[in-house]
Amino acid sequence: MDLKNKKVLLCVTGSIACYKSVDLYRKLKKEGADVKVILSRAAGEFISPYIFESFGEEAFYDDAFKNPLSHISLSKFADVILIAPATYNTINKFAAGIADTLITLVVAASPEKPKILVPAMNPNMFANKILKNNLNKLSEYNFYAVSPETGNAACGDFGEGRFPEIEDVIFEVESVFSEKKLKGKKVLITAGATREYMDPVRFISNGSSGKMGISLANEAVKQGADVVLIALNIDRASFYINKKVKIINRISFMDFKEALKDEFKKSDILFMSAAVSDYGFKEKSSEKIKKSRTTVAADAGDKKSTVFKAELVQNEDLLKSLSTLRKKGQVIFGFAAETNYLIENGRKKIAEKSLDFIFVNDVSKDVIGSDENEGFLMDNNGGIIKFERQPKKKLARLLILNLH
Ligand code: CTP
Repeated sequence: MDLKNKKVLLCVTGSIACYKSVDLYRKLKKEGADVKVILSRAAGEFISPYIFESFGEEAFYDDAFKNPLSHISLSKFADVILIAPATYNTINKFAAGIADTLITLVVAASPEKPKILVPAMNPNMFANKILKNNLNKLSEYNFYAVSPETGNAACGDFGEGRFPEIEDVIFEVESVFSEKKLKGKKVLITAGATREYMDPVRFISNGSSGKMGISLANEAVKQGADVVLIALNIDRASFYINKKVKIINRISFMDFKEALKDEFKKSDILFMSAAVSDYGFKEKSSEKIKKSRTTVAADAGDKKSTVFKAELVQNEDLLKSLSTLRKKGQVIFGFAAETNYLIENGRKKIAEKSLDFIFVNDVSKDVIGSDENEGFLMDNNGGIIKFERQPKKKLARLLILNLH
C-alpha cells in the first residue's frame, strides 16, 4: 500500500532527533501522502519551521491561541497522526489526558484516529517504568508505538531509545491503512534460492533474489499476521525486511527441507516463493575439487573437448510432500516459474502438488531478480486473475487480498 492521498499530520516534538523528521516528511511526500506539520515549541528550538516551509508546506507552530480552532481543523484533516519524534514528556502527557499545547490538543480531539508514536530519548528515560506503563496504556486508545533502535544516544549512553529507521516509520504508517486480512494468522514464507554445493566453494543455484517473498513477508505483517520467513541466501543488506518478521536463514536444500517441515506444522498459510533446486550433487567433496583430478577428455566428433562430469540426483518435491501433511484449513500457496504455456503449467502444478493457489511468474519477461513481476494467480477452483507488470511490493498486497 502506498500513501497516495493519505492525510498525515506530522507532529514534531523536542528531541535531539528532530532533524530526522525532515527526512521522514520528504519520504512521506514521496510516497504520495498529503502532509501537514506541527512543531512543538521545543522542536522549534531544534529545527526551524522554514525547513518545511521551503518544501512548500505550511508548518503550524505550537500556538493554540493564535487560532483557537486550529486543533479541531487539524484533527479533521488527519487520517493518521504521526508523532515523530515523540518525547518522554509528550507521551506521558497524552497518557495523562493533558491538552495544553497544539499537539496535545489535536490528539485530545482525535480519540478515534490512529496515532503513531515514534519515541526517541535517552535509554534511561525510555526504560523508565512511568513511560513503559503509559505506552501500554496508550496502546488501548488507538496509539501505535514504533520500537526505537538500540545504540549510542546523543549523550553517549548506550541502549534503546534512538529514532528508528525512516522505513520502519513509513511501514507503521502504511500498516495503519491495511485491511488486516491476515489478523491472527501464522504465515510462513520461503524466499530466495537454495545452493547445492559440490565442494566447499562451488555450488549450483539460480538467480532468484527473494524480493517476491520478502515483499509478501512485509505485506503479511502489515495485514496483521505473525510472519516467519525462511530466507535462502538472500542479500539482506539490499532489502528492507520489517523487524516483526522472524527470519530463519538456510542455505542448501537439505537444511531448508528440515526447517520448512518444522515451521509448516505451526503455520496457517504457506507462501512457497523460494526457488528450490530440483537437483543436488550425488557426492559432495569436503575438499576443493582440483581441476586436474576431475576433468575428462571427451571425444566430440572431430574436436577434443575437456568436460567436467558430476552426477546430480533429483531432490524431493517439497510442496508435494507438504500437501500430504497439511492439516484441515491450512492454505498452501505455490509459485511457478514458466517461460511458456503459463496457464496449462499452472493448472498442472496445482493438481500435482495439491495447492490451493499458485502464482505463475512469467519468467520470459525478465522478472527474476527484478523489482517488478507479472503473471497469473490461479486457484484450485479454476479461478484465474492476470496481473500486469507491477512492483513486487504492490503485487504482494494484491495476492494476499485475493486469498479466499
Ligand atoms: N518446489 C518444491 N520443491 C522442489 C522444487 C520446487 O517445493 N524440489 C516448489 C517451488 O518452491 C514452487 C513450486 O514448487 O513453489 C514450483 O516450482 P517450479 O520451479 O516452478 O517448478 P518445479 O516443480 O520445479 O517443476 P519444473 O522445474 O518442471 O517446472
